[in-house]
Amino acid sequence: MAHDSQQAPELPRELPASQVQPFLRWAGSKRWLAARIKSILPAEFGDYYEPFLGSGSVFFALGLDGNRCVLSDSLSPLINCFEQVRDQPSAVHEAVANWGCDRESYYAIRGLKPTDDATRAAQFIYLNRLCFNGLYRVNRDGGFNVPYGRPRFERIFSKPNELHAPSKRLNGTRIHRTDFVSATERATQGDLVYLDPPYVAGHRNNGFVDYNARVFRWEDQRRLSELCDSLTARGVMVIVSNADHPSIRELYGSHYRIESLNRFSSMSGNAGARGVSQELLIVNGPLVEAIS
Ligand SMILES: C[S@@+](CC[C@H](N)C(=O)[O-])C[C@H]1O[C@@H](n2cnc3c(N)ncnc32)[C@H](O)[C@@H]1O
Repeated sequence: MAHDSQQAPELPRELPASQVQPFLRWAGSKRWLAARIKSILPAEFGDYYEPFLGSGSVFFALGLDGNRCVLSDSLSPLINCFEQVRDQPSAVHEAVANWGCDRESYYAIRGLKPTDDATRAAQFIYLNRLCFNGLYRVNRDGGFNVPYGRPRFERIFSKPNELHAPSKRLNGTRIHRTDFVSATERATQGDLVYLDPPYVAGHRNNGFVDYNARVFRWEDQRRLSELCDSLTARGVMVIVSNADHPSIRELYGSHYRIESLNRFSSMSGNAGARGVSQELLIVNGPLVEAIS
């Protein structure tokens, strides 16, 4: 299975002290959008759901009490990684810390088949930080097959307890591996759901769109818009980010408020993906007042 092939942004080595940063690089990360999302949140809402978790960049940026947060994704090793960072950050950190960052170590660690969840999480973080462009891609047998990415650092962690801050932030969160529809079954009136699917429509036919279409089909985009209708009917607030494409605008129609945002991309290695692109924020209910 190929998975979300857009290049992931570089993970900053120096983390601002004021905000907990994601511990993973992720294709389609919404770190760039998090401030805008934060600015449109209502003063009060119930539980927060994020069913396309990826690196959790929006979750981390919002800084909500973990007890209010339900985080999920369909990717098992990603979910195991979040659970382990939440529950035993020291065990994960210790397992990663002694692994070298050179090519030989990378392929040796890539070939490991850990038997415990903490080491599996450690391996996931290690490969994420060292692989080419932070991609996640596996072969038919489920083996991770992204090549070594020639990192510019010599140690995986630049601080002694680098996983402790995200672990603290994740404390109390409910974390599930599940499809986005079942993930939100328990959302009720006044709750808020942020949905960030893989994009299957875009302005450029640059291969990344086609690649994504294998893991998230147009049919899934339809299921997603139907889910938004059902959440709206239940009084749940919804924020969706998606590609700015006529097919997506048509899918959500006039029942939602739609804002187009410029995304300034500095991704390296893929000239077609550089520059400015437009993406959409789609909101319902009380949130429509917050965007123009
Ligand atoms: C664009 S990424 C999310 C990025 C995230 N917002 C961030 O800032 O890092 C989309 C995520 O959706 C997940 N995904 C794909 N299909 C899914 C499905 N049917 N249900 C739940 N998650 C799914 C992928 O594993 C991927 O992590």
